[in-house]
Amino acid sequence: MAIERTFSMIKPDATRRNLTGAITAMLEEAGLRVVASKRVWMSRREAEGFYAVHKERPFFDELCEFMSSGPTVVQVLEGENAIAKNREVMGATNPADAADGTIRKVHARSIGENSVHGSDAPATAAQEIKYWFSDIEVVG
Ligand code: CMP
Repeated sequence: MAIERTFSMIKPDATRRNLTGAITAMLEEAGLRVVASKRVWMSRREAEGFYAVHKERPFFDELCEFMSSGPTVVQVLEGENAIAKNREVMGATNPADAADGTIRKVHARSIGENSVHGSDAPATAAQEIKYWFSDIEVVG
């Protein structure tokens, strides 16, 4: 398996509880390397643009409101099979369904306030990385 890059976010519920380091440590312990990282307070418009694929969903407003309610740490992670590995360490979207030891099982509060986001496929990873980072900000 080739080295991949994926996009990750530590969401406002987690930054509010001072969990940036704890969550990043779980990603690193899973073998992922942080090759770009910055803290942003996204605007409502930036949240709507990032989550545009969900704009017809009933939870879209709530999602964009929450994502623009406080700081988020946006990151690029690198490693073997990074997209699948990140999703494995994050756990299921709903923390009630997440496996033991996953980030969402340990830290998430609800399906909305679920602490982290990770790209689901190579095309979305490339698109999501580009949404938040320029090429020179990603240092492998
Ligand atoms: P994420 O991986 O960031 O991708 C889309 C997000 O929408 C998802 O995590 C959840 O936080 C959120 N989401 C999905 N379903 C619901 C729901 N039923 N209610 C509120 N938020 C949801």
